[in-house]
Amino acid sequence: MKQVTSLALAAFLAAGAVNASAYEAGDWVLRLGATTVAPDEDSDSIVLPTSPATVLPGVSIDNDTQLGIIPVYMLTDNWGVELLAATPFEHDVKVNGVGINAGSVTHLPPTLSMQWYPFGGQRGWQPYVGLGLNYTFIYDEDVDPQLAGALEALLGASEAKLSLDDSFGLAAQAGVDIPLSDNWAVNLAVWYIDIDSTAKIRTDVGTVEFDVSIDPWVYNVGIAYRF
Ligand code: NI
Repeated sequence: MKQVTSLALAAFLAAGAVNASAYEAGDWVLRLGATTVAPDEDSDSIVLPTSPATVLPGVSIDNDTQLGIIPVYMLTDNWGVELLAATPFEHDVKVNGVGINAGSVTHLPPTLSMQWYPFGGQRGWQPYVGLGLNYTFIYDEDVDPQLAGALEALLGASEAKLSLDDSFGLAAQAGVDIPLSDNWAVNLAVWYIDIDSTAKIRTDVGTVEFDVSIDPWVYNVGIAYRF
């Protein structure tokens, strides 16, 4: 049964490949999908100014999936420019080792990439690779009551606030549009984005800073429509 299904799918995709017209200079392609940001984070320790100092082994950041809105403009048959945009991602942040919730952060990671389509101008599957620039806006950082409670217990701090700096960096990507018909395709894509930030926890008794490399893998599974 599974074989029959995959044969049918293969035949369907092959038929699409025959019917699909080629990507050409001047085409717009809009990709929409479930876009997941999966941080591959590496965090410095958090050193709290108790005496002796309390060292917490950094933070970890969970995944989030949002609606990706990803337009592409074909400059030539083989070169395109793509903007990765999405609805805002929200991630929970945990303090490593002690297992307390630090809070949550929201961000938008727009990424503009130059893409190469080796089979541009030809019918069929359209694989591509790209290199780009990312600017990540990090905003709406919230402190969890668990972290606020720990800071109060350890430092006598109240009014804890969390902030993370925005990040500017490089992105690399690969993907494929698998044609279903003349204009519709299935899109699968992956990016690796260099996102580095400095986190600050501000309290009424002082500020603690530590660096966090978020460096996420980003995945999109969705559809593409060629105009
Ligand atoms: Ni990095």
